[in-house]
Amino acid sequence: MTDIKQAILAGIPSELPPKKQYDTTVSHAPNRKDILTREEKKLAIKNALRYFPENLHSVLATEFAEELKEYGRIYMHRYRPDYEIKSRHFEDFPHKSKQAAGIMMMLSNNLDHAIAQHPHELITYGGNGAVFQNWAQYLLCMQLLAEMTDEQTLALYSGHPMGLFPSHKDAPRVVVTNGMMIPNYSKPDDWEKFNALGVTQYGQMTAGSFMYIGPQGIVHGTTITVLNASRKIDSTAKDMSGKIFVTAGLGGMSGAQPKAGVIAKGVCIVAEVNPEATYKRHEQGWVDEVYKNLDELIDRAVQARENKEAVSLAYDGNIVDLWERLVEREIHIELGSDQTSLHNPWAGGYYPVGMSFEDANDMMANNPEQFKEEVQKTLVRHTKAINTLSQRGMYFFDYGNAFLLEASRAGADILKENGDFKYSSYVQDIMGPMCFDYGFGPFRWVCASNTEKDLEITDKIAGEVLEELMKTAPKEIQLQLQDNINWIKAAGENKMVVGSEARILYADAEGRMKIAEAFNNAVASGVLSSPIILGRDHHDVSGTDSPYRETSNIYDGSQFTADMAIQNVIGDSFRGATWVSIHNGGGVGWGEVINGGFGMMLDGTKDSERRLKSMLFWDVNNGISRRSWARNKEANFAIKRAMEMDPNLKVTIPNFADDTLINKLNL
Ligand SMILES: NC(=O)c1ccc[n+]([C@@H]2O[C@H](COP(=O)([O-])OP(=O)(O)OC[C@H]3O[C@@H](n4cnc5c(N)ncnc54)[C@H](O)[C@@H]3O)[C@@H](O)[C@H]2O)c1
Repeated sequence: MTDIKQAILAGIPSELPPKKQYDTTVSHAPNRKDILTREEKKLAIKNALRYFPENLHSVLATEFAEELKEYGRIYMHRYRPDYEIKSRHFEDFPHKSKQAAGIMMMLSNNLDHAIAQHPHELITYGGNGAVFQNWAQYLLCMQLLAEMTDEQTLALYSGHPMGLFPSHKDAPRVVVTNGMMIPNYSKPDDWEKFNALGVTQYGQMTAGSFMYIGPQGIVHGTTITVLNASRKIDSTAKDMSGKIFVTAGLGGMSGAQPKAGVIAKGVCIVAEVNPEATYKRHEQGWVDEVYKNLDELIDRAVQARENKEAVSLAYDGNIVDLWERLVEREIHIELGSDQTSLHNPWAGGYYPVGMSFEDANDMMANNPEQFKEEVQKTLVRHTKAINTLSQRGMYFFDYGNAFLLEASRAGADILKENGDFKYSSYVQDIMGPMCFDYGFGPFRWVCASNTEKDLEITDKIAGEVLEELMKTAPKEIQLQLQDNINWIKAAGENKMVVGSEARILYADAEGRMKIAEAFNNAVASGVLSSPIILGRDHHDVSGTDSPYRETSNIYDGSQFTADMAIQNVIGDSFRGATWVSIHNGGGVGWGEVINGGFGMMLDGTKDSERRLKSMLFWDVNNGISRRSWARNKEANFAIKRAMEMDPNLKVTIPNFADDTLINKLNL
């Protein structure tokens, strides 16, 4: 047996392992604020000691007290394993259940140093998106997965493995809950407190559900967004060619914009105020050219548009300077957005115009009040330029970064007379009605063999399935299908795999089921060398209730409910998911969203075929039925089509009240 297998089977070592040095070459989570009272700190340490035999308590209690003081959390750094944690061939993990081995592979990928943002604090992305709270939970979870059979289910409470419980082979092997709180205890500081106590964690979306696949997901999502944004101004546009998209931000997620713009065949201009971020993205090949001179940049963009060239141009400077120069020169811009981190405006998410990056950082640290004023003045100018270009025909959308909210707080001219924002968000206008309401969402898969060869085969299979569906697709969904056919054909060349051999595309219920069935057949016939693990982002049709993002295009008041996400996870769990997860938190904050997902291993058996058909049908149509009930006409179309396909589906269809009747009522 390999050392890794032995180490996993040993679980939490019975002897005290040597203390670990703090590794400065690895990115670490910020130290969390000191939020616990003295009594609560004692409780946090007692809680942490539950994982260890009493003879080790005197050493560990002191050490955990130090960690709590230093980092604001107890990570149990001493227990971090010495072997490299990464995605491997699933059979390289010790196991009795193949499904459990697949789950070990996926969770290991989420902690791979090439993938995870702060791997030593078990954080995958988003600053706080945790896979586990501490290393004892990791070790115990891996050991239990290695021991479990297909007659058991592991209950994971916010990273804590509560244990293996007898179940049956059709049950999920793991049920994950992250950050589930009594609703009144779901404010940001509640996360700080209860996470420090070691009783809950922030799982973000795909971090705590083991389904994160690196930057590929965001590149694909951004590509789909800009393609569909092009159609807001040109309904038959095949792609973004001959259009200029202006935006800001070359950071974590925003750095995907130029790559997506080029994949969509357009001209993408991105302003980035931090030269380090700009040149890093340039070196990585995510942006083609960098300009310091605004006029040279603009001339290059206009020329590229004329030539229908696909190119990305970075402006090494402030976005407001760029927008204002475009206004002055009366340059027509087709598409505009913004991905500065305005969800965090006072601590470096958004930089004021008219000063250098260094001076702004200095002011932020030494004169935060003036910094705040400068940010707000900049937002007013930013909005004014966008308003002018929009009046001249630009289509502008909010990219889920709180631009509209912060601009309104700054007193910018961003509200209509009725108090609504002048512009829509990307989900309200694009993702919701053009994708989610039809069932199109971020379907993904991972090759359990972890080989490039298998991934290539799956790309080919998925492309063929989509092309077959295209032959009979109604016109309403043809463009969506075509985008994903183009994407999957170029996916290998675009070389976006980091970590496990994974792929993403957007498909509707029928597409997801047909692709999954074709994969299962290919596993059965030996065309694929080993099973395929299906999953999806939580940012999808049915998995997420989030009133300002995924469900922001629900207008019947139910956007503030979370029944859909809960129904979804329960429904997936008894229809054959290999694991399911439900989380509080995610991109928009603790208490602001409930989101869930699944993983499903396709091992080529008839059982797998039965499960995939049953579960994927529900996993998409649950959300479509709710969107249809909310009177979304695209979802109404999609659910009627789904009922025609399966006579066992009988969804309650809304009647539409006439507004003139309602408006006449004496209320
Ligand atoms: N991409 C998506 O699909 C998506 C979805 C939802 C929300 N978002 C939101 O997008 C925002 C960006 O995310 P991120 O991970 O890239 O954040 P990030 O902080 O890593 O990157 C933002 C970048 O904007 C730059 N910036 C700030 N002010 C600027 C200015 N005035 N001019 C030019 N550049 C400026 C910063 O230097 C930084 O590099 C977040 O608010 C996030 O929540 C993105």
